[in-house]
Amino acid sequence: MNEVPAPTRVVHEADALPWLAANPLPAEGGVLTSLPDVAEFRHRDVDRWRAWFVQAAELVLRATPPARAAVFYQTDVKRDGRWIDKSFLVQQAAAAAGVPLLWHKIVCRAPTGQATFARPGYAHLLAFSAELREPVEAATPDVLPGLGAMTWARAMGLAATEAAVRWLRDVAGARTIVDPFCGVGTALAVANRHGLHAIGVELNPGRAQKARALDLSRSSP
Ligand SMILES: C[S@@+](CC[C@H](N)C(=O)[O-])C[C@H]1O[C@@H](n2cnc3c(N)ncnc32)[C@H](O)[C@@H]1O
Repeated sequence: MNEVPAPTRVVHEADALPWLAANPLPAEGGVLTSLPDVAEFRHRDVDRWRAWFVQAAELVLRATPPARAAVFYQTDVKRDGRWIDKSFLVQQAAAAAGVPLLWHKIVCRAPTGQATFARPGYAHLLAFSAELREPVEAATPDVLPGLGAMTWARAMGLAATEAAVRWLRDVAGARTIVDPFCGVGTALAVANRHGLHAIGVELNPGRAQKARALDLSRSSP
């Protein structure tokens, strides 16, 4: 009997921008990522972060194989009485890269009808692809009722990560999930749990180390 090879995981401790410029993604690679918030950004200056964010998202989109897709998971912030809409920033990057939007889903972070403060009551999931078009019969829910469990404060919620990984595998034909801002490796561990290879990039050495080891094979979303 032929044994199915176990899915692999490689995590690079590096700055994702030069890494993406130097390393072409595998032809069957789909991207699932969450770019750092201004609170994590080294300058803490909103305008510099905004420019960096759009540049980074554009690089991610240009690096994604045209027949696959890139999915972004982003939570907006409310700062000094103003709302920073990260889905708008990702869409600016997509317009600059000329990569169309396939879908834009909302993931509830709080029950509908409940007010929230520093962070809004929902997160965005956005999928882009240069060549792919989503078949009508492949449609998945546009409003996800909850994030699911979180591996740490800035993690992607597990339920949302599961939904994105399944879509990248089943509709976008991805066999490897790439997360260039992988944090502690949530997307990578979920990818492995679904039989997909995983490649991560993370600047922070401690998180890169955790991302190599995170095991979600027995946890539920
Ligand atoms: C929103 S968090 C990602 C969380 C991750 N999805 C998870 O579930 O653990 C963004 C991550 O990007 C990392 N980061 C920030 N700047 C980076 C850069 N230039 N290159 C690579 N990683 C970076 C941060 O250290 C942080 O872990």
